[in-house]
Amino acid sequence: MLVLALETSCDETAAAVVERLPDGTGRILSNCIRSQFDDHAAFGGVVPEIAARAHAELIDPVVRQALRQSGHDLSDMDAIAATSGPGLIGGLIVGVMTAKAMAAASGKRFLGVNHLEGHALTAGLTDNVQFPYLLLLVSGGHTQVLLVRGVGNYERWATTIDDALGEAFDKTAKLLGLPWPGGPEVERRAMIGDPKRFDFPRPMRGEKRLDFSFSGLKTAVRMATLSIDFENEQDVADICASFQQAVAETLQERLILSLDRFKIRFPDLAEPVLVVAGGVAANQMLRTMLTNLAAKGGFRFVAPPMVLCTDNAAMIAWAAACRLAKGDTDPLDLTPRPRWPLDEKSASTFGSGRKGPKA
Ligand code: KG4
Ligand code: ZN
Repeated sequence: MLVLALETSCDETAAAVVERLPDGTGRILSNCIRSQFDDHAAFGGVVPEIAARAHAELIDPVVRQALRQSGHDLSDMDAIAATSGPGLIGGLIVGVMTAKAMAAASGKRFLGVNHLEGHALTAGLTDNVQFPYLLLLVSGGHTQVLLVRGVGNYERWATTIDDALGEAFDKTAKLLGLPWPGGPEVERRAMIGDPKRFDFPRPMRGEKRLDFSFSGLKTAVRMATLSIDFENEQDVADICASFQQAVAETLQERLILSLDRFKIRFPDLAEPVLVVAGGVAANQMLRTMLTNLAAKGGFRFVAPPMVLCTDNAAMIAWAAACRLAKGDTDPLDLTPRPRWPLDEKSASTFGSGRKGPKA
């Protein structure tokens, strides 16, 4: 089964062709991506209008490239898919309309894929991880713990009640005058910093609920910046290291609760699995912490390669192929959904307002 998929929900224009074999494993035949980094960097974040225009310009060449690299024609595809939410509406419309037009013109099936489902199912493509497993999704727009029970079968166990973790990294960088996106820069500076110099809060410490909160940490960073010399590299590095330490400890303390819950829920699983996805998963210090945490809790830790942790179209093609294998398709009058929780039943979390456009 061959699927061509388009991903345009934020600032990456991507297309990919993925093959799903009868035994349920997958193979990536092409995975093309054009970042709009330069278009947005000057503004210190993603500008929705600029993103939509860039998607409209880039989508045709990226789709052509993905088909060419896969060694297949459009006529070989079993379906055409596109991310249909959540994300920035302008970009979603570009991807969904293009995929629909291609499906209609070629008589192929069409699927509108939830971007979060793409992240959630990636571990099946890369590591053949079997259901159920626990997923930590940490990106610029989401910080969630999800129980992945099967294709289309998710339970959201935890979410952030304010800022997403990537957003907290980006805002910390901004407060320190570091370039966007802030995550990699904060990590780099933290390497020579003293993680004990600033006593930043560990939000939600001791709370029984599984959720996250990061806005208090950002406020503490803002206060700390009042006392430092921005020209002094060590001062900046110390804030970065102290911030990262607070993040790592917070994540760890919160996540233990989810690991425990998973073990109680599935006591007979021989090898429970913890999967991490999202741009923040690039952070080496957090990866090390997660690796140790998983090992201590008796979990196998799976971190898909970085190109498949951050936004890409291969994960959308794979999610579409998994749905297709279950007999799922979507009608051509499907409309994009800028907001679309993976777990429709999960109650909206107190305090969780707008968390930015990225997923
Ligand atoms: O998944 P992603 O590429 O895009 C979406 O948000 O969907 O994640 C981007 C986020 C940004 O907030 C960026 O600052 C953060 O991931 N990030 C990192 C690192 N690399 C990227 N955060 C911490 N450490 C990193 N090394
Ligand atoms: Zn994403």
